[in-house]
Amino acid sequence: MAMYMKFVQSLCILLAMMIAVTVGLLNGHFAMWFAQAAIMNSTSSRIRRIGGNGELSDIGEDELIEQQMMQWVEYMGTRNHSASQVANKVFMPFSFLVVDTNGGNGHFTSIQQAVDSLEVLSARRVIILINPGTYREKLKIPWNKPYITLQGTGATSLCVIEWDDTADKVASDGQRLGTFNTATVTIDAPYFVARNLTFKNTASPPTSGSRNKQASAVRVSGDASTFVGCQFLGSQDTLYDHKGRHFFQDCYIEGSVDFIFGDGLSLYRNSHLHAVSANYEALTAQSRSSPLEQSGFSFVNCKVTGSGLLYLGRAWGTFSRVVYAYTYMDNIIVPEGWNDWGDSNRERTVYYAEYKCYGPGANPQGRVAWSHQLSDQEAQPFLGLNFVDGYEWIGL
Ligand SMILES: *[C@@H]1O[C@H](CO)[C@@H](O)[C@H](O)[C@H]1NC(C)=O
Ligand SMILES: *[C@@H]1O[C@H](CO)[C@@H](O)[C@H](O)[C@H]1NC(C)=O
Ligand SMILES: *[C@@H]1O[C@H](CO)[C@@H](O)[C@H](O)[C@H]1NC(C)=O
Repeated sequence: MAMYMKFVQSLCILLAMMIAVTVGLLNGHFAMWFAQAAIMNSTSSRIRRIGGNGELSDIGEDELIEQQMMQWVEYMGTRNHSASQVANKVFMPFSFLVVDTNGGNGHFTSIQQAVDSLEVLSARRVIILINPGTYREKLKIPWNKPYITLQGTGATSLCVIEWDDTADKVASDGQRLGTFNTATVTIDAPYFVARNLTFKNTASPPTSGSRNKQASAVRVSGDASTFVGCQFLGSQDTLYDHKGRHFFQDCYIEGSVDFIFGDGLSLYRNSHLHAVSANYEALTAQSRSSPLEQSGFSFVNCKVTGSGLLYLGRAWGTFSRVVYAYTYMDNIIVPEGWNDWGDSNRERTVYYAEYKCYGPGANPQGRVAWSHQLSDQEAQPFLGLNFVDGYEWIGL
């Protein structure tokens, strides 16, 4: 009898715990959307303060830009929001699906089928396990399917998603695809995570002088996306880091021209950037077009290797912003380091900087005068997860 009572008692406790966890999770979810709204609010009111301040109007443009830059740096450095406590809860696995090239056991045979099977606007994380194999498909994660994790279950190099679109390809509607629509995998949803996967655009590298051969492996346009242990393989425009806050860790990214580009606010950590260029190309093309935009790329503890002669970045946008810290650079970096995209006006507005980089390509002597070698204090905001508000949403 006592045994039986004990059993009933533990059953009750278990039930109560399950209810508590579920309620807590839902709360966390709503708290997060709220926190997001509040963040957007604080960002825009801050922008209004900078832009609408009459006192600033009679100082020089250079000084204004410098002031805005410093305000932004201070602001990024101090960001840490209370939402961090609840945000990680959304990383609790709630259901699993399995994708396998051979099907079997009721598994999906394509990743898109697995994604299509999910309900929209769910608050539960779904982990899609991807068994080793080559999945020839063009995959889209739509904006209304948040909290999806794609997890390779074998070696990263054996879990491959590939397609071969280029910008000049003509779609069924008679229009050219354009770079925007070339990606093998497109992520429009927030809170996406990918682990141990290879994303590939297999289009052949553009021959010298050929146009419209941009061919992305991934376009990430959703906010708060995480990529861990992934490979991005392609040549021109491999990784379209389009918009939103993103975190890349232990990744390998390969390409020839502008192979990390876009308007994201992204931290790349412990990653390997490998150029397969034949001549003068650029590694990044960050496209920030206004000083009020919260975007930029920061590379920390990375490694740059490969072939060709490479600029660390070129100014696709007038206010392009890229920082490399503690990064090894092989002897393929053009001594000047940075390129103004043929517009010398941009030399006054871009923010290109390096901090404690090393290797034969990292010599600060030859660098263009309009790039920066940062002090410890200046580098601080670019080094940690705070750069992308990561404490709120990165659940490693
Ligand atoms: C955003 O700001 C407005 C006023 O500027 C305020 O009324 C509103 O409550 C704020 N929203 C959030 C989510 O903080
Ligand atoms: C931000 O918050 C997280 C989680 O509470 C904490 O671990 C981290 O140390 C904080 N960072 C800063 C710079 O205060
Ligand atoms: C998965 O990625 C991690 C990096 O996050 C790496 O250490 C690990 O070796 C990878 N696993 C396999 C099986 O390739």
